[in-house]
Amino acid sequence: MDLFDSTYIGNLKVKNHFIRSATFEGKANKDGSPTNEILSIYQDLAKGGVGTIITSYAYITDYEQPEKYQLGIHKDELIDSYKNLVDMVHSYDTKIIMQIAHGSSHSQAYPETAKILGPSAVPHPTSNIRPKEMTRQEIQNVIKSFADASQRVKDAGFDGVQIHCAHWYLLSQFISPLFNKRTDSYGGGTENRLRIVMEVYQAVREKVGPDFPIWVKINSTDQEPDGLTVEDFLQMSKHLSKAGIDAIEISGQWRKFDLDERLYYKDAAIKLSKIVDTPIILTGGVRSIDDMAKVYGSSTVNLFGLSRPLLKDPAYIKSLI
Ligand SMILES: Cc1cc2nc3c(=O)[nH]c(=O)nc-3n(C[C@H](O)[C@H](O)[C@H](O)COP(=O)(O)O)c2cc1C
Repeated sequence: MDLFDSTYIGNLKVKNHFIRSATFEGKANKDGSPTNEILSIYQDLAKGGVGTIITSYAYITDYEQPEKYQLGIHKDELIDSYKNLVDMVHSYDTKIIMQIAHGSSHSQAYPETAKILGPSAVPHPTSNIRPKEMTRQEIQNVIKSFADASQRVKDAGFDGVQIHCAHWYLLSQFISPLFNKRTDSYGGGTENRLRIVMEVYQAVREKVGPDFPIWVKINSTDQEPDGLTVEDFLQMSKHLSKAGIDAIEISGQWRKFDLDERLYYKDAAIKLSKIVDTPIILTGGVRSIDDMAKVYGSSTVNLFGLSRPLLKDPAYIKSLI
């Protein structure tokens, strides 16, 4: 197998095995639409040879937004604003997936007016923001927001949607015992903590149909005592795989690693590849073909996500040849 050969991620044909993992720019218009500056960033990436681009995380409701100048996909009026971007990326034979996210207590661009929701009223360890514990109605509303946003992603011409369930934003708070102290059916064991994610997946699938790629980016561990374990992650991913998710991108609290560390989640990815057939994307500390060879030489994991190397040099993939 050659990482520069075309392959399929589920039913999506991509020109190579390299994926730009979601990377926030802070350069969108105030209404969430992409600027020419964003277009130019994605053009450099597409020219630079990456097979698939996952957009920066886009917010999906009008009551909260993790960062200022973030992409948004929370209203129908934004659909047309993405068409140039998608067409431009496609003109380089590059695929583009939109990542969609619900924020919570990780960060809020406009905290004075935001409705800050979480699984439980547990303060976030980095922002110290204490969210409001969600009612069951609010859970249903969030599920609907993910589904409606995914329909817009499809209507704008993207090749797929990625559900953000990593980095201690809302959905990854639900799967984590550090944040999720609920005693109803959305808290407790792994199946209960995953419930909202499964319901989001099912609602999105109902909206976009059987063929539209739905990916997830998920924490493989909280890297904290009493937090989400790799064992929890494996069980949860098995459920997602069985439900029909098209790709699983593996992540975690990547900021805790030193810059010279490599392949942070390699072991989790290899373990997962032994129990599911779903394509797996390994992201975090992937820095060279030799790094990747260590993984695809000894497992079925052969898709690699990169963020910081492509921030530094959008043509990084070409430099690997
Ligand atoms: C500036 C910056 C912005 C990021 N924005 C996002 C984002 O919007 N969504 C996301 O899931 N991850 C985001 N990440 C995390 C990356 O996708 C990736 O998981 C992490 O950087 C580890 O990969 P790397 O070692 O290749 O950088 C961001 C990372 C950086 C450096």
